[in-house]
Amino acid sequence: GTVGALLVFALLTGAQARTGAPQTAVPTLPPPTIITAQPIGDTIYPALGQAGLDVLNYDLDLFVDRPGTSELRGTAVLTLTATQPLPALSLDFLGPQVLEVLWNGLSVPYRQDQMAGKLTFNPPQPLLPGMRAEVTVRFAGRVGVRPDPDLPLDVGWQAVPAQGERVGANFTLSEPDGTRTFLPVNDHPSDPATFTTRVTVPAGYTAAASGMQQSEVAAPNGGRTFTFVQAEPIPTYALAIHVNRFERLDSPAIPVGVGGAAVIRRDYFPVGIPVETRDAYASTNEILGVLSDWFGPFPFSAYGSAIVTPRIPALETATLSTMPVTSSSVCVLVHETAHQWFGDRLTLADWSEVWLNEGFATYAELLWAQSQGENGDEVVRGWYARASRTATRPLIATTERQLFDTTAYIRGALALHAVRVTVNDAAFKTYLRGWVVEVADRPVTTADLLAYTRTRLGERAWAALRLWAESPALPPLPAKP
Ligand code: ARG
Ligand code: ZN
Repeated sequence: GTVGALLVFALLTGAQARTGAPQTAVPTLPPPTIITAQPIGDTIYPALGQAGLDVLNYDLDLFVDRPGTSELRGTAVLTLTATQPLPALSLDFLGPQVLEVLWNGLSVPYRQDQMAGKLTFNPPQPLLPGMRAEVTVRFAGRVGVRPDPDLPLDVGWQAVPAQGERVGANFTLSEPDGTRTFLPVNDHPSDPATFTTRVTVPAGYTAAASGMQQSEVAAPNGGRTFTFVQAEPIPTYALAIHVNRFERLDSPAIPVGVGGAAVIRRDYFPVGIPVETRDAYASTNEILGVLSDWFGPFPFSAYGSAIVTPRIPALETATLSTMPVTSSSVCVLVHETAHQWFGDRLTLADWSEVWLNEGFATYAELLWAQSQGENGDEVVRGWYARASRTATRPLIATTERQLFDTTAYIRGALALHAVRVTVNDAAFKTYLRGWVVEVADRPVTTADLLAYTRTRLGERAWAALRLWAESPALPPLPAKP
């Protein structure tokens, strides 16, 4: 009512009520200590992230005292800048209890709202564009819970209890928004960042994480601290962290990086998994060779897989794909490896655009099959049959349930094939390689791909992509004219 509206007005403006009423009747309202922040405005997840916030780097110091449980403690130091003045900061966080928040080294009051999944505080002065600040968050306790959009599992920090011979383990499985279950983050792919990840584990355990291992040093009670540097920006969900009894297999580096740079090769196999599990990973170098020929140089300085034992989907965690024992096939490995370009290097502007990850990664399965002498037309016909059996929709998703559906993967891949058949393979290769570099420094949208297709390949390719992107019905099977 009116009284409420007046109170809100007073709160917002800090105005003192000046009416004819006696002064004593006017309640003195303390100024609001926490000014709220605006989320990024994702169409699928409207509450995620903070508009105008740009996290440059996450420096993490994590302690996994009891692997296999959901206990986690540590410190996250975020290096921030802003693209608009920010009087309040609001990080996504569903995780362990916050013990302290420091702004450039000075303690500040904060509010940890588990329901909203936000950690909010006001810096002493607003963060302005061009300024840099460092936020330190100390936390300890149990990680938060966030259900997967369509599978019966929780995304985020996974706890795998000890079973039989196998020790308890932990790893991250965070797409789309599970990183906030265990770290305070700007949890949106449009704000990729670099990471330094230090993980301290008990005796007998190994930690692995996205990026290059920088050091391994002794910790108290026979434990060890492993440090990894992910020097190229990645989306928060693509951060891999693993704690397990691992055997690390190093392979010779392969010169598929930018300018022919060597890409370090290492894979992590949990002790005690079936030996056949390793077979698929022997193809990693060949996959990197085939895909870098189509997509351009591999975007990171290391690559490999970390194998996990639960029956879950594989995930394209940066530099270190997360591969379940049950999905240890060359086809899945090709798919996750392709995501290193499409998803990890190129990032999404909005979750509704996720077909730009899944369609390209699925298309890589065809490129691989052809490199192995298989009949590509058969693969495409198989996709088309599958897409015809399932409900279809335009490529841009409108609901959470659609993010990882057949349309995102299969219709997305068919859309790229529809572009390919309008040109020759040399032109298609230049087109794929160009997409990676041309849009490399901003998050991608379907509109960007349409515009890029028109400029690079012309009207026919553009019209084909547009039909596949926008038609409510499934367009006809793409074929060479
Ligand atoms: N991006 C992952 C992949 O295609 C799949 C994630 C699946 N998640 C899900 N909720 N269905 O490799
Ligand atoms: Zn995928």
